[in-house]
Amino acid sequence: MSTPQSSNSTASQNSIPTVSFAHQRAAAEERKAAYPYRFPLDRRQLGGKYSVRENARRLLRFFYFERRLMQALGAWTLSIREFEVKLETGRHIFFHADAARLLRERLNEQEIRLKDIDAFRDPEIDRFIDEMLSAQSACELLVGVHQVLGRALSTAYRHHIDVTDPVTDAPTIRCLRRILTDYEPMLEWAESAIAAYVQGGVPEPGLAVWRWHLQRLLASIGGATGSDDRGEPPKPLRIDSKPFERGTVPLRDVRFDTFKNTGDYDTADEQERFPKDSYENLRLRFIRTQRDEVDAIEAFGTFIWDIRFKDFQSEYNLARITWDEARHTEIGHRALLACGYDPFELRNRLTGSTCRGPMEPAFAMAEINLFGEVGVLKTINNLIDTAAERNDELLRHIADFIRADERTHVRKGQGIIKVMTDLEAKPLEERTRELFTECHVSLGAFKKDMDVFTVSREDLEHLVGE
Ligand SMILES: [Fe+2]
Ligand SMILES: [Fe+2]
Repeated sequence: MSTPQSSNSTASQNSIPTVSFAHQRAAAEERKAAYPYRFPLDRRQLGGKYSVRENARRLLRFFYFERRLMQALGAWTLSIREFEVKLETGRHIFFHADAARLLRERLNEQEIRLKDIDAFRDPEIDRFIDEMLSAQSACELLVGVHQVLGRALSTAYRHHIDVTDPVTDAPTIRCLRRILTDYEPMLEWAESAIAAYVQGGVPEPGLAVWRWHLQRLLASIGGATGSDDRGEPPKPLRIDSKPFERGTVPLRDVRFDTFKNTGDYDTADEQERFPKDSYENLRLRFIRTQRDEVDAIEAFGTFIWDIRFKDFQSEYNLARITWDEARHTEIGHRALLACGYDPFELRNRLTGSTCRGPMEPAFAMAEINLFGEVGVLKTINNLIDTAAERNDELLRHIADFIRADERTHVRKGQGIIKVMTDLEAKPLEERTRELFTECHVSLGAFKKDMDVFTVSREDLEHLVGE
């Protein structure tokens, strides 16, 4: 046995000597020389700015911003007029939900219990979110959500990736990179959308004032990370004179011709395009209904806001359904084009959304989920089979994907309803039918005497037309 060679020359380790045996070191050199492969060099180095604790503090704040953004956009789904912005926002709700999910998982690996992650609140951030939601237009909303907060978060994520340890903290880096994959196109879209608003006549100075106001408010709470120097908050805040409340009325842009006095398209049009029970009629009804699921973006988005903080998984599931409904709307719009229609020539049904808008979430959810989505599944198999027999590939193709989505929604919906209410299935269905009968009567969709009449499940399914 040879004598160990001690060295204490390494600056960073000078209190602990390196104890290396010469024969082992020489043998290792020899084995390495015999190794034939020159694999790509991994240049990452140990080091990095954060401890697990500081990492977790920052990630928890990011998680909270993402969770609040998901909820916040949900609160505006009814109030956004412009079709393109409403659709895109339906997608963004899920991007923020998924960012929150990824951060939540990473936080759980950084020694924070899920219970504590979900219970985390920050009143300063809440104040910022409420002020941001007090936008006076959808364009102002985009300025706050994307140009102020979104941009600050994406900068913070990129900075975090740059300075955290690339080896010990690699999972955080991967988590943030995945989030940025959604952020990059989202922020780019928002820039173009705001530019389109300005080009279309929205005065730029008002937007700049609002942007500056929110930037100062964010700076006053230490920015996205909470670690920046704090500036003075701007005064006054809009929420100081009027607390934020979500809208209750579904809004559409000027290209739409809307109706809410009936659930039936032929009645709304005051004439038939095709005979009532014909395949052509069922087909067009299905496609129009998909386009009119712009109201389902409103329903599920609003639920996220209304049940905020009750249960993260339910918020996440609602966010995913919201994105799916945005897709169904796009599918409907494109399918109408593929059928030769200008989608805006076909009147847009606001009946369901008008009733659900001001309603308690459990009943609104029961209506769209138990009647709307379950109702679709009752008829869609036949529709797909008939489409296939008739070689109607457009309908077969879209309905095939929509069926899979709606089955998923029905499944997820059961768990979400349990979070929303303690009512058993039967009283929940009865109360829902009562409330919607009342609402439909007030809209003129039914002319019957309410005291003796509550609409049947079938009628309601027809009216919801999810
Ligand atoms: Fe749908
Ligand atoms: Fe759905």
